[in-house]
Amino acid sequence: MWNKEAETAGKAAREAGKILLDLFGKNPATRKKGEIDLVTDADVRSEETIVHTIRHRFPRDTILAEESGQSHRLSERMWIVDPLDGTTNFAHSFPFFAVSIGLEVEGEIVLGVVFNPVLREYYEAVRGEGAYLNGKRIAVSSVATLQDSLLATGFPYTIHENSDTVLRNFRNMITRAQGIRRPGAASLDLCLVAAGVFDGFWEEGLKPWDTAAGAIILKEAGGKLTTYDGKPFAPRHETIVASNSLIHEPMLAALRDQDAF
Ligand code: IPD
Ligand code: CA
Ligand code: CA
Repeated sequence: MWNKEAETAGKAAREAGKILLDLFGKNPATRKKGEIDLVTDADVRSEETIVHTIRHRFPRDTILAEESGQSHRLSERMWIVDPLDGTTNFAHSFPFFAVSIGLEVEGEIVLGVVFNPVLREYYEAVRGEGAYLNGKRIAVSSVATLQDSLLATGFPYTIHENSDTVLRNFRNMITRAQGIRRPGAASLDLCLVAAGVFDGFWEEGLKPWDTAAGAIILKEAGGKLTTYDGKPFAPRHETIVASNSLIHEPMLAALRDQDAF
């Protein structure tokens, strides 16, 4: 099921990835959407290509894309697009970024693709059919304790206004885990948990385009996703905890620990 949609997402992500690679390291024009929230020509051009490819094949579908917002709502099918996840990395020539495309049907994500053009890593999942990296099935790690875990996180663009909770959560995790990384592209953080590289990931303030595709990829790889308070995660939620499922409860407990800061 969803073959034509999955193929379309793949085509769009690969074309967009090519555009990003062409512009990478060449100082594309950059402006600010917020105090530390950037948008480059690469974000815009990548998004135009993706929207064009989807619209050509599925003209009635709704598209929610980071830079252009939500198109008309003619159907219960919504493509959720991040044309460049990792814009700050990209703008500083740090080679870690991705294209992320998810498809939501009647409120549920049915497929997701995430493409890292630098490493040529193409992650994909269709609901009920497993998760794949470059055509090979992937699964979450079997690390069972926080102490043995490598975690990933990210910081919201509002961090300058309110850093208290973010820093408290960071401290609660760093003092319990083996290590923490902040790679800078949430869609890839989720895929790296799906592939068993990271054992868990948490962040707050993410948007649907950051998580829609990565969430289904992680779920299909055997992972678990909730909000900070343990409710099942959906892409419009404000907080996310994603894990190999074995360290999920310890992660939630660490986030609950108000006293450690
Ligand atoms: C950002 C990245 C980053 C995360 C931010 C996101 P963008 O997306 O995923 O890792 O920490 O919260 O907004 O702006 O590069 O598409
Ligand atoms: Ca993003
Ligand atoms: Ca983006």
